[in-house]
Amino acid sequence: MKKFIASLSLGLLASCTHLPPVPDPEPQPCDPGIVDFTNEIYPMIQSNCAMSGCHVGPYPADGLDLSTYAGIRDEVKPGNPNDSKLYEVLFETGDDLMPPPPMAALSSAQKERIRLWIVQGAKETNCAGACDSTSATTYSAVIAPMIQANCLGCHQGAAPSGGVSLGTYAQTVNAVNASGLVDALSGSNGRAQMPPAGAMSACNVALLQRWVRSGMPQ
Ligand code: HEC
Repeated sequence: MKKFIASLSLGLLASCTHLPPVPDPEPQPCDPGIVDFTNEIYPMIQSNCAMSGCHVGPYPADGLDLSTYAGIRDEVKPGNPNDSKLYEVLFETGDDLMPPPPMAALSSAQKERIRLWIVQGAKETNCAGACDSTSATTYSAVIAPMIQANCLGCHQGAAPSGGVSLGTYAQTVNAVNASGLVDALSGSNGRAQMPPAGAMSACNVALLQRWVRSGMPQ
């Protein structure tokens, strides 16, 4: 009976949850030699693999839900990228290539970060560092890599989501001025929440707000 009640309440909990859980281990100071899961790998996978209609939800493609650390971890053999499905599919040809065409393939720099993360043990790390940085928040140093990791999977190419392209400096400035990019980070003032699966880390949101306040330096 106890067991029945436990599974019943679990079921209720699950059905009340609309968004996939965002990993949230205690932040540790960033080590520049370590690829961070929460700030780098997770957003890259959300933006390129776990978008609606692909690897998320009750009936994910191939039965593979990549919206949680556990789901991602299942496709990885720590220490061994060449035996990890998550990594292998990035190099396949034809229908087996992920993300499937016409979506853009990951860049070789992104593939290399995934490879290194697996080599380093595929851990659920969460480091907080960028926000403590005193260096200038410029587009090229801070904003472009953040958008690449968190947004570009949906916001580039011939048919970007919401008609909003974020592939260049000019397009990003335009999205701030004309498409409510800052409000979208918290889903406020009538803008859709971006990324749709849940807000970026508080650190990333603060950096983007700081960049806009300081006049969007290139
Ligand atoms: C998984 C796909 C996906 C990701 C990742 C994503 N977006 Fe979007 N975005 C959408 C969709 C779909 C819409 C259209 C939503 C709507 O109109 O309801 C949209 C709309 C927008 C809009 C217009 C919002 C509005 O209400 O007019 C902005 C600005 C935007 N996105 C910025 C971003 C930024 C910045 C990021 C990264 C931090 C991001 N998006 C990540 C899919 C995505």
